[in-house]
Amino acid sequence: MSTPIQIRTRDDEKNYDFSPYPSSWIQIGWSHEVGRGEVRPRRALGRELVIFRGQDGQVRVLDAYCPHLGAHLGVGGAVIGDELRCPFHGWQFDGSGACTKIPYASKIPGRARVGAWTVREVNGQILVWHDADGRPPWFEIPEVPEFGSSEWTRPRIYETTIRTRWRELVENGVDRGHFFALHGFPEPPELEFRTDGHRFSMTSRVRWRRFGVERTVTLDIDGYGACFAVTRGHGEAPFMVLGCPMPIDANTIIHRQAVIVSRRLPPLVRSAVARFVGWTAMREFRRDVPIWQNKVVIPRPVLCDGDGPIVRFRTWARQFEPGAGPASAAAE
Ligand code: FES
Ligand SMILES: [Fe+2]
Repeated sequence: MSTPIQIRTRDDEKNYDFSPYPSSWIQIGWSHEVGRGEVRPRRALGRELVIFRGQDGQVRVLDAYCPHLGAHLGVGGAVIGDELRCPFHGWQFDGSGACTKIPYASKIPGRARVGAWTVREVNGQILVWHDADGRPPWFEIPEVPEFGSSEWTRPRIYETTIRTRWRELVENGVDRGHFFALHGFPEPPELEFRTDGHRFSMTSRVRWRRFGVERTVTLDIDGYGACFAVTRGHGEAPFMVLGCPMPIDANTIIHRQAVIVSRRLPPLVRSAVARFVGWTAMREFRRDVPIWQNKVVIPRPVLCDGDGPIVRFRTWARQFEPGAGPASAAAE
């Protein structure tokens, strides 16, 4: 059996015309990964971070390298109350990044602090605010009530590491033509795409033939910023997917997905549907991955009338670039 060869375009040839690190909320992990009193290292946004949960239950995120002699606070660091103690010499930092204690010194140097991140914890996700121009958050991620509701299953979680940048994944949803050719849909979906400041919403109707039965699946996708989208699948088996790309570095992302299914379905059907939706979503997703890893970006693409609102999507996405922001969205 031969192994398929995977060609990979050199990262510096990919011709990206957008930043790897958009101004947005970025999911850096799941709530269940960081219990009370626990510490996790995380590489994200081109740097090393440390996530920890204080005894008060609150998650805090700091830059990982200790300003004293450079130890990684996420490797051997310990939670003391609601603060984090460095493993090397025991300096202690609070959630604002300030050093609060040095066990063997009488005076804390003024420069003894690490960078601290603005954190939100919603929908079982841990998110940090990244702004290319250093501004505080200019929008929020909504709580999606279905996640955590007893009327929906517990999430099935998937994580995929991909050599690409965030915009390629999000653009995929408005790229009508590829559903037909790459995903084997009988015809391209009908698409409505709307934008409203930092948000987009999209309705996608797909006619689908399975086991000799034709049905129409309607998907509603709501995006909040560059790296958070929630998909609602309607029909006899309602399902939802959260999708959040996290830039690791300039050329790599981790895409996190969580799939839930309505508990209105009978238990046996429900678990079969949950498996099927997760499996189908991942199978289709994996068809996109080699395209993303090997493609280049065409800043001024040659488009045809059936292609979908790719240019409108890119115009919307520009507000998350360094030097842009909410004002450029209003000017759209
Ligand atoms: S390196 Fe962190 S306390 Fe010394
Ligand atoms: Fe796709």
